[in-house]
Amino acid sequence: MQEIARIAREARERMAAAETLSELDRLRVEYLGRKGAITRRLKELDALPPAQRPAAGKAVNDAKRGVQQEFERRRAALGEQVLERRMAGEKMDVTLPGRGQRAGAPHPVTRTLRRVEDLLQRAGFDIEEGPDIEDDFHNFEALNIPPLHPARAMHDTFYLDDGLLLRTHTSPVQIRVMRRARPPIHMIAPGRVYRCDFDITHSPMFHQVEGLAVDEAVSFADLKGVVTGFLRAFFEESDLPIRFRPSYFPFTEPSAEVDIRWRHGSGRHDWLEIMGCGMVHPNVLKAVGYDAGRYSGYAFGLGIERLAMLRHGIDDLRILFENDLRFCEQFSA
Ligand code: FA5
Ligand code: MG
Repeated sequence: MQEIARIAREARERMAAAETLSELDRLRVEYLGRKGAITRRLKELDALPPAQRPAAGKAVNDAKRGVQQEFERRRAALGEQVLERRMAGEKMDVTLPGRGQRAGAPHPVTRTLRRVEDLLQRAGFDIEEGPDIEDDFHNFEALNIPPLHPARAMHDTFYLDDGLLLRTHTSPVQIRVMRRARPPIHMIAPGRVYRCDFDITHSPMFHQVEGLAVDEAVSFADLKGVVTGFLRAFFEESDLPIRFRPSYFPFTEPSAEVDIRWRHGSGRHDWLEIMGCGMVHPNVLKAVGYDAGRYSGYAFGLGIERLAMLRHGIDDLRILFENDLRFCEQFSA
């Protein structure tokens, strides 16, 4: 009995001193496991004379319970230590300022483009698309601009290999759509166009929205009505100063350019050209296989950056492409 008491004391002391959960578990096996020191004593009870068994049995069971209790106590304490150590390592300072999320917004050119698309879609025009890389046929020839035609000089074209080029306007989409569909046609084609141009009202890459309406008995009055109505809605100004100035495009006849009166930062007033337009030339209708005697149409090509300039009072169109956030953020409302 003294022996069992000694073993139990030793077990409790060693468990109390255990530094880790695995060390503690090894001690549990050493004393309480199937071949453990205390378990073994329990088995030896059978060898005692019957009279001594109850007292000895009680002693061994008490010893076992004591060791078991110490084991549980130490295990709980070590578990808590492990948790505390982990929390200390993962400590965070909730008083630090957050990282913050700066909300982005569409670029003023994108916003203008969407506004134009929205207004013209409501007027019954469907959106069409064409490729930025075009061939000579769609960009020039089918638009009644044969090789060596002087109008080619009006477009400072970026040429690629194999007779391909960066489209100089969105008008080639007219050809692509008319070759695919039959009248009545009411379409707009927004997109990027490219020209070797650069000053305060010209950029080498800019955006146009092409418009095309072809049906029986479409007139210049229809064109004027749609363009005027659209511009008044766009600028939210019913007495907007608009000027239809006679002009020339090989693919329309008669043709006009549309100007809007605006005020420079210097205070000086001036007209700014925002689009070209006209009645689709019979040669273009023929090039796509339409009966030019039966059908007529009008077309227009709007400059999006010019509209953005006028709407937001921007003097120099090039600032739209610098993407200085201090500038762009002014239009995010
Ligand atoms: C054309 O591009 C014709 N395709 C428009 C057209 C379509 C006429 C259908 C008739 C029928 P123009 O070169 O004038 O025309 O360009 C049209 C508009 O694009 C101009 O009025 C202007 O607003 C804009 N624009 C032209 N060049 C630039 C440039 N370099 N940077 C920014 N905007 C430009
Ligand atoms: Mg022009």
